[in-house]
Formats: sequence, C-alpha cells, structure tokens
Amino acid sequence: RKGTPVLNPSAAAQAIEPPEGSTAVGTGKGGVGKSTVAAHLAGESAAAGHRTLLICVTGQDDDDLGIKRFGRGVHPQGPSALDGEGLYRAIHDRVPLQPIREVRPNLDVLPGGPRVADIANVLMLRLMQEGPGVVLSLAYSLAPIAPLYDRVIFDSAPENDSLEQLVLAAARTLIVPTRSDDSSISGMERISKNFKVVKQQVNPYLQIAGAFLYGSNRSATLMHNAVRKQIRKTLGEGTPILDTIVGYREVPAVNARRKGLLFGEYAELLPTSASPYDVKAGRAEEADVVPETILPLAKEMRELTTEIFEHHRRVA
Ligand SMILES: Nc1ncnc2c1ncn2[C@@H]1O[C@H](COP(=O)(O)OP(=O)(O)OP(=O)(O)O)[C@@H](O)[C@H]1O
Ligand SMILES: [Mg+2]
Repeated sequence: RKGTPVLNPSAAAQAIEPPEGSTAVGTGKGGVGKSTVAAHLAGESAAAGHRTLLICVTGQDDDDLGIKRFGRGVHPQGPSALDGEGLYRAIHDRVPLQPIREVRPNLDVLPGGPRVADIANVLMLRLMQEGPGVVLSLAYSLAPIAPLYDRVIFDSAPENDSLEQLVLAAARTLIVPTRSDDSSISGMERISKNFKVVKQQVNPYLQIAGAFLYGSNRSATLMHNAVRKQIRKTLGEGTPILDTIVGYREVPAVNARRKGLLFGEYAELLPTSASPYDVKAGRAEEADVVPETILPLAKEMRELTTEIFEHHRRVA
C-alpha cells in the first residue's frame, strides 16, 4: 500500500512525553524477528533487575514467555488480559493499562492477540471525531503506570500503519531489525514513513536508536555490507547499525517458543534434555529434545540485547 499515513498536520495534537527507557521494535515487515527480539530485550532487562513492561501491539500472540500456554504471571482481576483483550480494553475505555504481572521476576506483560486488530478500528472511528491525537491513545493509557517501570519494550504489528503509529507515539526510541531480503528492506520504508510522521506531529522525542540484521548467516559479510548500505539509504545516513548478527537457527528458535521459554532459559534445559528415542517411545515431545544449537543462539541473542542496551545508554 502506498500513500502517506493518516495523521493530519493541520490539527494540533497534544504531545505527551514518552517514558525514558521506552523502546519500540518495528520494521514494517512481517516475520523478521520483532516479537522474538522484543521478548528477549524485555526478559534480559528484567533479569538484570530492571522493572520492565512488555507491550505487544501485535495481532499474533506468539507467547514467547509462556503466559497463555503455561499460565505464567499474575493476571489482573476481572476480564482476561490475554489475546490482546487487555490492550484493547484500556484503549477502548481510555483507562490505564493493567498488565499481567511477574511473568518473570521484574517482568510485566500486556500480551498481543486477535483483539489488537479491533484497536485499529477504534482509532479509525475516533480519528473522524477527535482528530489525529487519537494516535496517542496508547501513550495516554501507559502514562499512569509508566513510573512503575525502568524500561518499557513495545512489540509492533507489521503492515498496519495505524498500529505502528500507535506504538511510535508512545515510545522514545525505535530499534529496527531486518532480514537481508528485498521485501524486508522495503518494509523499512513503511516504518521510516510512520516514524517521520509521528515524530513531526505528536512525538518529537522519538529517535531511531539503530538497526540490525537478524536471522542471517553470520559469515556472509559481503552481503551484509550491501544490506547495511540499503538500511542507511532507507532510514537515513546517520542510522547506527549494530554489529551483532543473530544467526538463522530455526530449530532451537521454534522449539524455545513452543516451550514458552527465552533462549537462555531453554538452553538451561540442555543437560536434562530428552533424546529422540524418548520421542519415538511417546515419552517426550519434539520440543523436549533440546538441540545443541540453542547454545550459540542464546549466546548471540545475549550479545544482541547487551549491545542494544549499551547503545541506548550511550545515546541517552
Ligand atoms: N534466529 C532465528 N533463526 C531462525 N528462526 C528464528 C530466529 N528467531 C526467531 N525465529 C523464528 O522466526 C519466526 C518469526 O519470528 P518472529 O515471530 O519473532 O517475527 P515477527 O517479526 O515478530 O513476525 P510477525 O511480523 O509475524 O509478528 C518465528 O517462527 C520464530 O520462532
Ligand atoms: Mg511478531
């Protein structure tokens, strides 16, 4: 889809300062690793002792943290916060976000899911009555609880301008993962457009914290150099590009998610892993056989999240 996103420069929207330490993961393209990276950023931050909130503004509930599948966390009283319901209700009713608490020590989460798609409809209806300030809806629902947290990480929905803008209006920095293929590169044009429009009109605090290649062969350096050039062309010549590249390792990545475990947590199961023989005998599931490749994957992800946080400290 072409064209400029929906905000209208003539109507003045009331700006709201996003919390310090709030970061959106976004790329404008599906399936590049946004949710995986967002969950790991949040998990590492919490594990380091920072009070952390993860907000998943995405129609797909990947449940990397095992909230739904394994019932983790302390759920708010009343109606469910799962499947994007909590996010939807807060925005629809214009009330503070009520996250699922202590999904891990120090980590609270608002999960995404199918109900998130309806947020876009609410925004569209309100846009006509209230003007472009509606893009600040999430920022307003976050503001009352933001002081409880040291860090807020947003996962974003791809290929949906109004949901991308909703996230960008609530965050202080944007971090952009990409794969090396052309459609991932052109996906960055979408986030770049939304970035500009949101920064100009409602969130002057917003900054691009950096971009990085995700899920790529770590030794393809020539190709990576070409991709870096394209990233800078799309997001701006000054865009910082991170050094860490997390390799493409499908089996451990998919299995860890199935178990609702972050890579580091899944790697800890390696010593007590089931064997393929146990699976054949019906004593274990495929995902109970922890592949050795979880070790490099966990290590690379740790490097990436460390680099992202260090980089943010320098920028701040
Ligand atoms: N390093 C990796 N190597 C291979 N596969 C990975 C890696 N990290 C994550 N994956 C897998 O790639 C798929 C897409 O990842 P993810 O869901 O994080 O992307 P996304 O950008 O959030 O996608 P969407 O746009 O659909 O929300 C998932 O199946 C995930 O388990
Ligand atoms: Mg996702």
